[in-house]
Amino acid sequence: SMTTITIVAPGAMGSAVGRKLVEGGCIVFTNLEGRSAASRKRAAEAGMVDMPWEKIIERSDLILSIVPPKDALSFALKFADLFKSLRNTPRQHLTFADCNAVSPSSVLDIAAAFEELPISFIDACIIGGPPTIDYNPTFYASTSPKHSAALEQLENLTNNGLIVKALRSEGADVGDASALKMSYAGISKGLTGLLTTMLLASHASSPATSQALLSELKLSQPELLRRITRAISPMFPKAYRWVGEMNEIADFIGKEEGDIYRGMAKIYERINGSLESDKADVTTLQELVDAAKTMLEPKK
Ligand SMILES: *[C@@H]1O[C@H](CO)[C@@H](O)[C@H](O)[C@H]1NC(C)=O
Ligand SMILES: *[C@@H]1O[C@H](CO)[C@@H](O)[C@H](O)[C@H]1NC(C)=O
Repeated sequence: SMTTITIVAPGAMGSAVGRKLVEGGCIVFTNLEGRSAASRKRAAEAGMVDMPWEKIIERSDLILSIVPPKDALSFALKFADLFKSLRNTPRQHLTFADCNAVSPSSVLDIAAAFEELPISFIDACIIGGPPTIDYNPTFYASTSPKHSAALEQLENLTNNGLIVKALRSEGADVGDASALKMSYAGISKGLTGLLTTMLLASHASSPATSQALLSELKLSQPELLRRITRAISPMFPKAYRWVGEMNEIADFIGKEEGDIYRGMAKIYERINGSLESDKADVTTLQELVDAAKTMLEPKK
């Protein structure tokens, strides 16, 4: 029998994951009530089937929540309520995996929504971008020992085209996959924030300072200069989303060092603000990125 998976929602990531699972031999449901035309189109192209909640609860083995981080808790609460109101269906048990970039304390609140229900909760995260024909991000997952069969169920999606790794060593529990996501994003997006901050600060001193900074990076830290050319421009349109993510990371760290990431949230707020207003900061950054690219071109 084929595994039946429901993915909420068919955004860029959700629909790409859906397509992989359809290609990997699963039946993939979603619910398109109130969704945009773009979501409907993405879902249809991915081979996902629009289902009412009642059928989703009756027939799914596994629910994957892939929503904007700020909606992760409200969706979990909504799903728990739907399950309670529709549970006269034959379905006795299912697994709910929250795959969103939320802090471990947020994921504990999400897990609490399912405590009294016959639903196994898995804390999961996705590291990397949406899957394509020749690329897969990695899903990491953790849960409490009582849900170890559900963890295996998620891991088994490796047989259906995803990459899933479970955190299983001593003490692994709900919160750990989210902590891993926070730690990884803190390094990768934090590094982008650090490079952005110092490029802008050096340029505020004078354009000569930022030019000298780029030349010195080329001499002594070429890997960081290459990172400037790759990481900064693609960040601009995502900056507004990263504000919330940096604040989640700050909460995850908890202690005073969390302030590092409150500062990162500020730099991304500034970039978002620049995009929405005079664009001065993003123009400066784009010029510095272009200068860095020129420096890295092989000499003729
Ligand atoms: C996972 O897959 C293995 C091997 O196909 C199977 O024996 C096992 O029952 C599956 N586990 C779950 C929880 O679905
Ligand atoms: C991004 O900028 C817009 C317009 O200035 C503002 O309304 C919004 O709150 C900003 N978002 C964040 C996360 O700072």
